[in-house]
Amino acid sequence: MKFFATSASAAKRSTDCVIVGVYDKKELSDAAGVIDTASRGAISKLIEQGDISGKLGATALLNDLKGVKSPRVVVVGLGKASAFDRRAYHKAVSAALRQIDLPKITNAVCYLSAEDVVGCDNYYCGRLAAQALGEHNYRFNDFKSKGKRPPSKLKKLGLGAKGRADHASLELGAAHGAGIAEGMQLTRDLGNTPANVCHPTYLAETARELATKHTKLTVKVLEEAQMRRLGMNSLLSVGHGSEQPSKLIQMDYRGGKKGEAPIVLVGKGITFDTGGISLKPGPMMDEMKYDMGGAAAVMGAMAATVALKLPINLVVIVPSAENMPSGRATRPGDVVTSMSGQTIEILNTDAEGRLILCDALTYSKRFKPAAIVDVATLTGACVIALGHHRSGLMSRHDDLADELLDAGERAVDRAWRLPLDSEYTDQLKSNFADFANIGGREGGAITAGAFLSQFASEMRWAHLDIAGTAWRGGARKGSTGRPVPLLVDYLLQHTH
Ligand code: BES
Ligand code: MN
Ligand code: ZN
Repeated sequence: MKFFATSASAAKRSTDCVIVGVYDKKELSDAAGVIDTASRGAISKLIEQGDISGKLGATALLNDLKGVKSPRVVVVGLGKASAFDRRAYHKAVSAALRQIDLPKITNAVCYLSAEDVVGCDNYYCGRLAAQALGEHNYRFNDFKSKGKRPPSKLKKLGLGAKGRADHASLELGAAHGAGIAEGMQLTRDLGNTPANVCHPTYLAETARELATKHTKLTVKVLEEAQMRRLGMNSLLSVGHGSEQPSKLIQMDYRGGKKGEAPIVLVGKGITFDTGGISLKPGPMMDEMKYDMGGAAAVMGAMAATVALKLPINLVVIVPSAENMPSGRATRPGDVVTSMSGQTIEILNTDAEGRLILCDALTYSKRFKPAAIVDVATLTGACVIALGHHRSGLMSRHDDLADELLDAGERAVDRAWRLPLDSEYTDQLKSNFADFANIGGREGGAITAGAFLSQFASEMRWAHLDIAGTAWRGGARKGSTGRPVPLLVDYLLQHTH
């Protein structure tokens, strides 16, 4: 995929297709105005007829307009001009790309200009456009023997600029967007791969494979015996019922200054969550193959980091297990001693994510992280609280929380902060151990975060619950690649 910036007029540009925008209330963007003038009012006429509404994401394909060099013009609705922000921009670009997914279109130029996007600059427009294209071109055909979706024909996307001065930032943004898209692709592939293939060993192999391609990245995999020696009994209890061995995957990228404290990302890698002995109900249980979405996201963030050669130190930790019921599985009421020495009464074996994450957090202390963020499809309660639109963010560190929230806003991959008052921790009281692994139905996303916080003391830690955002169900079932854009935006802030 190639990106370039261009200041050539939309009417004179020779390409397979140009993309221009119109607002609601019959208002043309500058580029749409250029096409309209050149074609003696072709666009205004369609607006008058009611064929072009300007509704955000609505598109029309116009062919062979007189006075326009490109044989096709896609007019995309931008909605209300004052509300055309970066989120609307990403939506409009995606809609235009769907419209131009035609066999003869191999290159196109998008004239949705950064000047028109409220609160967005050329860099971010380039980035969001490149990311949108990456998302649009994503295919997952690995398990189809026939009827594979053919790859998109679009190979080159131009980005219209007001002047030469804007080219560098548009192109830098597009390069970063392409890196983010590459990370998202890995995240989505891992998520969509079924659990009979994508087990903990597969995640470890994928990490190792990425490391063979990049000298600054090393990978180490802890096996069950090593984890037992480290006292990771909480993590190990989750995989007891499974035939698949549990793993702790460590990816260490040193692109920054020697000795500089790394950022550590920890991802929940439950490759399938049956609930264990606290077995989940049957309907939609297949979606629990996505319970390694946190692992997939942090590995995707690592893939983007190495692709972009970011000058940072980044450690990715993936605790991985399969949560199955069997004669060897953990029982409700079992008590385990975590690596931290704190004991846990496992009242519900379906609250397993926190059990693998707590030992991964304790293990991560050895890296003396500048900041540590865990990412997990942790609770159904988070989906009830925030729906599928925003990830849940919890942290006791206001500055870190704000950095992550801002990253989400900029990257159009938003999160919303939930509180972590001590009352929530009180819900985790156990009669037999230091903590129970569940805190009741009330505030379920927060009590899970409060549980994790007990293992993150002395670290600048934040927790992202992505249960509602990592994948889509229903007819469009599939991994979204979130929150890779948020994470990579956060990492990019540490490069300057
Ligand atoms: N992986 C699930 C969380 C989940 C459920 C994500 C549904 C997305 C959709 C997690 O391991 C889990 O089962 N959590 C329980 C916790 C409860 C037992 C305290 C839940 O949310 O029901
Ligand atoms: Mn579970
Ligand atoms: Zn789970």
